[in-house]
Amino acid sequence: MTNENRQEVLLKVDHLSQYFKSNKAVDDVSFDIKRGEVFGLVGESGCGKTTTGRSIIRIYDITGGSIYFNGHRICAGLLEYENAIREARKELKETSDPERKGQLKKLIDMNRAEIKRAKHDHKYSDRDYADELVKKVKAKYEEDVKKANGDSEKLSKLNKNYRDDLRVARKTRLITKIQMIFQDPVASLNPRMTVQEIISEGLVINGIKDKEYIQEKVYEILELVGLTRDHAGRYPHEFSGGQKQRIGIARSVIMKPDMIIADEPVSALDVSIQAQVINLLNELRESLGLTILFIAHDLSVVKYFSDRIGVMYYGKMVELASSDELFKHPLHPYTKSLLSSIPLPDPRSERVRVREKYNPLQAHDYTVNKPSMREILPGHFVMCNDEEFKAYQKEIKEAE
Ligand SMILES: Nc1ncnc2c1ncn2[C@@H]1O[C@H](COP(=O)(O)OP(=O)(O)OP(=O)(O)O)[C@@H](O)[C@H]1O
Ligand SMILES: [Mg+2]
Repeated sequence: MTNENRQEVLLKVDHLSQYFKSNKAVDDVSFDIKRGEVFGLVGESGCGKTTTGRSIIRIYDITGGSIYFNGHRICAGLLEYENAIREARKELKETSDPERKGQLKKLIDMNRAEIKRAKHDHKYSDRDYADELVKKVKAKYEEDVKKANGDSEKLSKLNKNYRDDLRVARKTRLITKIQMIFQDPVASLNPRMTVQEIISEGLVINGIKDKEYIQEKVYEILELVGLTRDHAGRYPHEFSGGQKQRIGIARSVIMKPDMIIADEPVSALDVSIQAQVINLLNELRESLGLTILFIAHDLSVVKYFSDRIGVMYYGKMVELASSDELFKHPLHPYTKSLLSSIPLPDPRSERVRVREKYNPLQAHDYTVNKPSMREILPGHFVMCNDEEFKAYQKEIKEAE
């Protein structure tokens, strides 16, 4: 992959919020993932990792913020617009200044227009994407026809391919380009379906009927994920945990996704199997050019696999940096506590390892000066206030 492609942002999560009533499961989280990159999302149980993943694949109507994929806004929350309208209405009732009234009315209209746009994007981004693909297919066809220069044999072949490509393009949905591998391989595989049925389900839903084609695809994918053709007719209970997760991976890659969200794909597995599954994901990343959002609660799992890592704590992103940088200069006390909980390979160091506990009330004083995400070194962001920002800068200098 060239450096240029690597800079292309495939997924942009912009001020994402997902509230469940008063529970702010994800609260104003922003990050982006470049094409071909592995982005690790780490944090303890309940901090909102799965909710972030599920928001991206549109299981929820997100409360706030936007998510862009391949340049299209695929999710848009209405909360901020609704709040802005509510505030403006309140002020409208209280003020008697005609100029201010005019401004407020304008503000309300603007936010109404934003809501309309958000709803449109949420509903039609898929269709817009299909329209774009159709245009591309048409343009390519016209070019090929010119090149064929009246050769009737070439033209008839072109026409046939054109009809197929057009059909596929019309049916393609942007959202199928993001696939999720679930936390619990046992619960995510239907016990009454054969492996073949499980793996091909997405193709069938997308309207592919050619049985021979489906069979071939299933065989191909089974081999790709380290299983065999013989496995196609069996049922999930006949497989080990690691094999089940391979079936889960097969089901997601058959859709030719651009991106995979792997939600703790190895936590339920034996330690000896974990490395195998991670290696498989790494191989697929190379061979299929995948971009991966890798969710884990343990930094040691994501360390070698991720290009960049985001650390979440109670619905907030607290630190974000390249994997090397995060391990070299961990700054946020929560990141430090996560690092201190990784066992060390050397028994002598392990014996004296001190686990740092994170207590937000003790660690920060945010009564006056509020924290925000700030860039402390290029690409290294930490949630901090002014005072902490200075202290972190000093800490980095001293570590040099
Ligand atoms: N569908 C839902 N309805 C209501 N609350 C939810 C829902 N899903 C998650 N939550 C709550 O949102 C918060 C974040 O949950 P989430 O599953 O995203 O955490 P997680 O980081 O994936 O944790 P784990 O490591 O245990 O998988 C939790 O407080 C959880 O109880
Ligand atoms: Mg989870």
